[in-house]
Amino acid sequence: MRQIILLVLLLFSYTTSLAWGKTGHRIVGQIAENHLTEEAKANIVKILGHESLAMVSNYMDFIKADRRYNHMNPWHYCTIPDGMTYEEAGTPEEGDAIQTIYRLIEELKSKNFTDEDEAFALKCLVHLIGDVHQPLHVGNGKDKGGNDEVLEFMYESTNLHRIWDSDLIDHQQLSYTEYAAAIDYFDNATVNKLQKDDVMVWIYESRDLRSQVYDFPSNQRLSWGYIYDNIGTVERRLAEAGARLAGILNEIYG
Ligand code: ADE
Ligand code: ZN
Repeated sequence: MRQIILLVLLLFSYTTSLAWGKTGHRIVGQIAENHLTEEAKANIVKILGHESLAMVSNYMDFIKADRRYNHMNPWHYCTIPDGMTYEEAGTPEEGDAIQTIYRLIEELKSKNFTDEDEAFALKCLVHLIGDVHQPLHVGNGKDKGGNDEVLEFMYESTNLHRIWDSDLIDHQQLSYTEYAAAIDYFDNATVNKLQKDDVMVWIYESRDLRSQVYDFPSNQRLSWGYIYDNIGTVERRLAEAGARLAGILNEIYG
């Protein structure tokens, strides 16, 4: 019996995904890198050494393999039910992405760190600004951000959350550097405007994209039509996340 329970738990943990996939996060990191001031770039090198923003962007997912970080799992997303504001929904006791992003920005600005803690906080911030731009990281509170929505994508079994984390991106068959170069298309005025938006603007954009995300065929088979309708949104969210991440990092380090 114990083995069966363990097996079920194990299977479940593998089917519940919690973040843009590896390529998505790296694209956000690379685009941010493209928009850093020289000063910010130099200060970040002092903290991360040889590692680029792209290459640290998945760290917060990698540490899920270590139980000591289990308390951080709820920090990858937030929940705002349809028709509600964040204030109405409230911050859960265990914390969420919004609260954690605000806290990390404050901590990084205060600079009260040992070197290792600063690198850790910076890696988490890079990851979470990416995460909350994935529309399903602002969940409706009903289906674990689409993880419970079992679907087919290009004839393979998956779920809605994973389709938005990685299936749509991986289907393009581009490396993260190729993809970042292809979609880093905002002009300076647009980047400046994006960088003025508060965290809550990003969150409500994600919430409001959900109606589009859940608009899939009733036979639950998603393929070329769903890609055609949504890949532009995926790419815009990645580019927006990258530009905004650069804005925050320039504020802290530039
Ligand atoms: N679990 C519950 N809500 C979630 C979400 N929005 N994203 C990922 N995992 C979740
Ligand atoms: Zn994540």
